[in-house]
Amino acid sequence: MDDSATLWHGRFDGDPAAALRALNDSLSFDRRMFREDIAGSRAHAAMLAGVGLITAAERDAIDAALDTVEAEMAGGAFVAAPGDEDIHTAVERRVTEITPAGAKLHTGRSRNDQVAADLRLWTRAALSDVARAVLGLQATLLARAEGAGGALLPGYTHLQQAQPVLLAHYLLAHGWALARDVDRLVEARRRADVSPLGAGALAGSSLPLDPERTASELGFSAVFDNSLDAVADRDFVADALYALAMLGVHLSRLGEELVLWSSSEFGFVELDDAFATGSSMMPQKKNPDVAELARAKAGRLIGRLAGLLATLKGLPLAYAKDLQEDKEPLFDAVDTVTLTLVALDGLMASARFDTDRMAAAASSPYGAATDLAEWLVARGTPFRQAHAIVGELVKRSLAGDGSLADLVAADERLGPDAAALLEPGASAARRNTPGAAGPEAVAAQLERFRNRLEADAARLG
Ligand code: ARG
Repeated sequence: MDDSATLWHGRFDGDPAAALRALNDSLSFDRRMFREDIAGSRAHAAMLAGVGLITAAERDAIDAALDTVEAEMAGGAFVAAPGDEDIHTAVERRVTEITPAGAKLHTGRSRNDQVAADLRLWTRAALSDVARAVLGLQATLLARAEGAGGALLPGYTHLQQAQPVLLAHYLLAHGWALARDVDRLVEARRRADVSPLGAGALAGSSLPLDPERTASELGFSAVFDNSLDAVADRDFVADALYALAMLGVHLSRLGEELVLWSSSEFGFVELDDAFATGSSMMPQKKNPDVAELARAKAGRLIGRLAGLLATLKGLPLAYAKDLQEDKEPLFDAVDTVTLTLVALDGLMASARFDTDRMAAAASSPYGAATDLAEWLVARGTPFRQAHAIVGELVKRSLAGDGSLADLVAADERLGPDAAALLEPGASAARRNTPGAAGPEAVAAQLERFRNRLEADAARLG
């Protein structure tokens, strides 16, 4: 390689070692930001022309060259040169081949502020896309909840049957967790939405740059305050990775639910063949691989966040090449979460709920024990006492003294009216406090959830 092939050849004798190039070059992954890099260069050239550092003709020539490079990169016709270390080098090298004005493009700019700008633009768009995919899964959960009508299943604590709840309530519980994820993704997007352009390598410039101008050209909502911070700051990547990891954790919990529900022991759900897998040895098997992978991917997403934080920890100001390690974790986290969301959405949309199995599991009279105690409370018994009375009856019933319903009906403090609460579905129907699992409360909740989805779709644009 000719030594003029690097951007920094002036000070060097001889070529960089192959091993250095192999470790140092980032084009293989940062070419994914070519549109952002080109948009940043367009904005920078417009600003340079605006402040008189290049002529309008030079700006137009640069713009036209950027069009060509963009088309080459989008169409696969772009040929990397040996010195194309990263996407910034590659674009500038090619622009300069096309027009001599390209030699002025890097005026008042460093790859340090450039790469931060590119990644901020990329992150802003990617987080919007992920949030839209979350809305897709939420819409599916909503549709399944609406379709679930009055179906009941046991609610659990400690994975022990606790109190029956509406299936719709169960599904929306996952939906609300995802609503917080949308919130976090939008917040992370806001934090990415700050322009670092004009910070230069670390100290700004002696040239009359106009950072406000570049920022507004690129649609950034704010401009950096401190040039050192602007090029050293990767908080926005960590914020994005946290939002993605938390989302991954929620998907893993939903995944685990489906793994349990599709087991023959639960039998609450049958996965559609298109979203299940078989065994290479056991002909009878139908496996919930999608749900299991949703459970597993959270580990990888948490690792991406932890890895980046470890990379950032202790880095002195301002830019160091360590910061090049920001992109692969972010790209991978976005890809991983997107794949998982889409597959889980398909699984959720096509799964068949066995509401008879759910109802049978939810019909245990013990699931109404709390409601029996509340029935006594409503008639003046202090709760602690009511709890003990019902507990005693449960103990006798478990010991074989008779069914809980018979014992309740025969008990002078309770009687036949209270025993009616043990009919399947009777107790759940009465739990209608705000946000509760009963039908009236769930109807109101469905309405709130629908409105929330609409509002979130509107704020994503
Ligand atoms: N490829 C580099 C990165 O991703 C671009 C910035 C290089 N800056 C530098 N001073 N070498 O971080």
